[in-house]
Amino acid sequence: MERKTQEEIRRIAKAGRVVAECHRAIASRIAPGVTTLEIDRFVERFMRERGATPAQIGYKGYPFATCASVNDVVCHGFPDAEPLEEGDIVTIDMVADVEGWKADSAWTYAIGKTTPRVKRLLRATRSALDRAIKQAVPGKRLGDIGHAVKSSAEEAGFNVVTTFVGHGIGREIHELPHVENNGRPGKGLLLKPGMVITIEPILTTGSADIWIGQDGWTARTQDGALAAQFEHTVAVTERGPAVLTDW
Ligand code: MF3
Ligand code: CO
Repeated sequence: MERKTQEEIRRIAKAGRVVAECHRAIASRIAPGVTTLEIDRFVERFMRERGATPAQIGYKGYPFATCASVNDVVCHGFPDAEPLEEGDIVTIDMVADVEGWKADSAWTYAIGKTTPRVKRLLRATRSALDRAIKQAVPGKRLGDIGHAVKSSAEEAGFNVVTTFVGHGIGREIHELPHVENNGRPGKGLLLKPGMVITIEPILTTGSADIWIGQDGWTARTQDGALAAQFEHTVAVTERGPAVLTDW
């Protein structure tokens, strides 16, 4: 797999900063009554105003700037005109492109008041990501990242959707390698400085089995359980993991 130079990592970080700012802006605007289509329009405008392009539009035919995955939607949901309601959770996933370099990050937002169970799901998903990021250092392997996700999720009592994986990123949204959300410690591809990957665990309150809807994109849990996802773009560096989409 490709390794990026420091200059290239700086360029990816520029795109990452736009994504991070976008998520911060969403966090302060999202509320009951807001639609995911409004958020999508906002994201597209926000990126363009900052000299970035929303790289998901047209990617393998995907029609929107964001994926908006509500409640039992695991990922790749289409933004729509349905108002979000108190108690919903929604994952907003986006990729910004700045001068040909891309960064990818997803965040799950809770709408209004949430139940303790949803709070636990969100906290567990974040900490699965955090624990996996700590493994993104030279000398560790992809299996260490996957194991961190899976074990952390299961300790918290949630299941991991292993159908979807993280990926290398740079000039393309999806580059090698696949970054699986399970694995065995000490196994898999050796991590080296310059590798830039996404880590993107999806946890559910129920079954990890999914189905894909008629639109060919929308993935839902088979049992209707809630799903949450947090994703960052991370560079492996000599000085440790550099989170390029942090906010
Ligand atoms: N951002 C997604 C990821 O995490 C990619 C979405 S594919 C798209 O891999 F087609 F929806 F853009
Ligand atoms: Co993403």
